[in-house]
Amino acid sequence: MNDSTQSPLRFDDKVVVVTGAGMGLGASHAKLFASLGAKVVANDLGVNRDGTADTSAPVDDVVAQIISDGGIAVASYDSVEVGERIIEQAIREFGRVDIVINNAGIIRDKSFHKMELDEWQSVQDVHVNGAYRVTRAAWPYMRKQGYGRVLFTASASGLYGNFGQANYSAAKAGLFGLTRTLAIEGATKNIQCNIIAPMLDSRMLVGLMPDQYRKQLKPELVSPLAAYLCHEACEENGSLYEVGAGWYAKVRWQRSDGFGQSPLAEVSIDDIAENWQAINSFDQAHFPKDTKEAGAVMYKNLVKP
Ligand SMILES: NC(=O)c1ccc[n+]([C@@H]2O[C@H](COP(=O)([O-])OP(=O)(O)OC[C@H]3O[C@@H](n4cnc5c(N)ncnc54)[C@H](O)[C@@H]3O)[C@@H](O)[C@H]2O)c1
Repeated sequence: MNDSTQSPLRFDDKVVVVTGAGMGLGASHAKLFASLGAKVVANDLGVNRDGTADTSAPVDDVVAQIISDGGIAVASYDSVEVGERIIEQAIREFGRVDIVINNAGIIRDKSFHKMELDEWQSVQDVHVNGAYRVTRAAWPYMRKQGYGRVLFTASASGLYGNFGQANYSAAKAGLFGLTRTLAIEGATKNIQCNIIAPMLDSRMLVGLMPDQYRKQLKPELVSPLAAYLCHEACEENGSLYEVGAGWYAKVRWQRSDGFGQSPLAEVSIDDIAENWQAINSFDQAHFPKDTKEAGAVMYKNLVKP
């Protein structure tokens, strides 16, 4: 395996904001970017796993380590829920913002029938609204300089669902839609947006996975993908990757060939039942990559007025 510190893929003169950088995956991202020459705004307000107050400022240790290793970093203690302040600090300290890594996250797991509004809302506030506010504040700078990279953080829970995580999976799936649209809107200004669904050892996995396996899920195995997706040399835009335990894979939508008939004909519930197999069969699958390709089949079905 290559040594990252010798990589020609560097981030000299680039300013990277990493949210939730006090521990876990965010700390690993911040250290890797700094080791590759980036100036890092390491953001973390220091909360417990469920978002409740914690008195520690874990991001101070991360920043201290980056600096003692010869890197450049400043600590930011604002919540992503007031994400504009994090970007203002990046501009104040370093004069620009090139890369935003939306990584901060909390979990408040409960089965849906027991989930109260506050447990639902706080998770949306951090993951979705927080990522929105940080990214929205950075966007005009990226547009103006004709360069930007944004990385969002999803979860397998958002892609496949997971018992007890209705709030979290809704938020993580929402970030996928946000990524897709920002990838389209940013493309003409060389702003590229991608999203990863990671698996790594952190306090988020405590109680969810046996300890002997958790140890192998090193966050340092995830961060190189994050860094590559944010490098100028990478042309990827609007893509989703699953990553963990040294494994990296792209994920895309798959759609069945489906069942279609003239929109002028009537359709009954029985027609749906009779054609259920065709509607569900992936024998002739399609992989529409945008709304144009996705809609084309339906438009083809339309009858000329
Ligand atoms: N650990 C996993 O296996 C896993 C799996 C799927 C997705 N993820 C996602 O990866 C990301 C990182 O998770 P982790 O496992 O490193 O978790 P972690 O709990 O170790 O770290 C999350 C960090 O985010 C910070 N944070 C929380 N709310 C914040 C806010 N409002 N503003 C700023 N900082 C805030 C916390 O203080 C903490 O330091 C999260 O988005 C998480 O949902 C993790």
